[in-house]
Amino acid sequence: MPCIRIIEVLPTPDDLFRAAAEEFVRAGRAAIAEQGRFTVALSGGSTPRSLYFLLAKDHADFPWSQTFLFFGDERHVPPDHPESNYRMVKESLLTKVPIPTGNVFRVQAEMPDPVAAAADYEKQLRRFFELRPNEFPSFDLILLGLGADGHTASLFPGSDGLKEQSRLVIANWVDKFKAHRLTFTFPVLNNAKDVMFLVSGEGKSEMASLILEGKNTPPFPAQQIDPKNRLAWMLDKAAAARLSN
Ligand code: 6PG
Repeated sequence: MPCIRIIEVLPTPDDLFRAAAEEFVRAGRAAIAEQGRFTVALSGGSTPRSLYFLLAKDHADFPWSQTFLFFGDERHVPPDHPESNYRMVKESLLTKVPIPTGNVFRVQAEMPDPVAAAADYEKQLRRFFELRPNEFPSFDLILLGLGADGHTASLFPGSDGLKEQSRLVIANWVDKFKAHRLTFTFPVLNNAKDVMFLVSGEGKSEMASLILEGKNTPPFPAQQIDPKNRLAWMLDKAAAARLSN
């Protein structure tokens, strides 16, 4: 069954993050009601920080003890590094909500060998989801951002990671950063029940219109996200400025 695709445009960034927080809470409460737990992979970068702050501020009563947090991608840096996605999530959310430490699955990105770090995270996923050898986890929700170049998670245009179809987590060499990024692969992203993209600001408007209305070959990585149930694109007005309707 094709997944439901939704595009929601909110007037301001504050409206966007409030709507995203409500969507997160809706998905979480539904998953917990149905199966007793909520598995979610968070996105990194700067956009989602405001969402995480809002979740902590307005939704501290959310059933955090039944919520299990993972990271859709991570930079190859230690957890206290300014560029660490874990550090950003810890400062904006984890230190402010009563989530048990055992419910947070951090990428061991301080490991010197990025391939070993990716393999370690894959092992954590396999163990938690009790996966059989060729099975992929199905997260209840994966949050994603959009890069101005059309990347999502750390699947960048032209990178080898776009081709990965069997591993869950890889160390993807990103030429423009001359660094590896640790990232979920497309099979994991597309095996999620729900995916929510959060896009804010005029700087993303051109790419947002290419992704949502363009016919690009090859498609941009963010255009190849096709989860099982629901794909929600949530943009503020500035990011949606170049959409035709
Ligand atoms: C990361 C993210 C990445 C991000 C986009 C958008 O680790 O940086 O996972 O995919 O979502 O690059 O980043 P901004 O929100 O900072 O624009």
